Amino acid sequence: MEYRFPKYKDASWNSYNRHMERYQTIKNLLGENAIGAEIGVYKGGFGEFLRQHCKQLYLVDPWHRLKPYWGAATPENSSVGAFNNILQVYADEIERGRVQVVAEFAVPFLLSLPDAHLDWVYLDASHLYEDTVAELRASLRVVRRGGYIIGDDYDPDPSSKQHGVFLAVNEIVKDNGFVLCVNTGRQWAFQVTR
Ligand SMILES: C[S@@+](CC[C@H](N)C(=O)[O-])C[C@H]1O[C@@H](n2cnc3c(N)ncnc32)[C@H](O)[C@@H]1O
Repeated sequence: MEYRFPKYKDASWNSYNRHMERYQTIKNLLGENAIGAEIGVYKGGFGEFLRQHCKQLYLVDPWHRLKPYWGAATPENSSVGAFNNILQVYADEIERGRVQVVAEFAVPFLLSLPDAHLDWVYLDASHLYEDTVAELRASLRVVRRGGYIIGDDYDPDPSSKQHGVFLAVNEIVKDNGFVLCVNTGRQWAFQVTR
């Protein structure tokens, strides 16, 4: 696989090795020739792993529409910089219609899709409880039956900033009678079985 971003770690969540670890735990769910969406993209490195499985991949993040930096206000954390670089790195796939880069918030993006349009969605966006519940509810309509809702930062520690993801995923899984099929290294996933 060609990885077109720097491989060094420039944030706790952003390095080739961390992407690879996460990818290994979910790759069996991604299929082939899929229509998928990564929601919460930032610099775009994880999309390199996801795109191998896709005939169409949506990369969705508000970037500069949310805030000018993700993390500390340093040049390498610039949202405009990340957005601009993604357009350049993915230019070929964008031109061929295989990748769509969408500067939008998760819920409006999901609401814009037809029913059962996606084979899977990978959620790595705001991580707040209320936002994640809304993202999960919107995902249930747009992921086809048999597809997967997958994500990052499933943290059982109540003091964690990402604990809202844990609460929201558990609630939606329980309310709908789904079963968590991945719970490793903070990755989580369940199959949409109805
Ligand atoms: C941890 S980063 C994503 C990392 C990326 N998935 C990766 O693996 O490299 C979180 C991203 O979520 C985005 N984000 C925050 N709130 C969002 C929302 N409501 N909808 C979509 N994306 C959001 C931020 O702009 C940020 O780029």
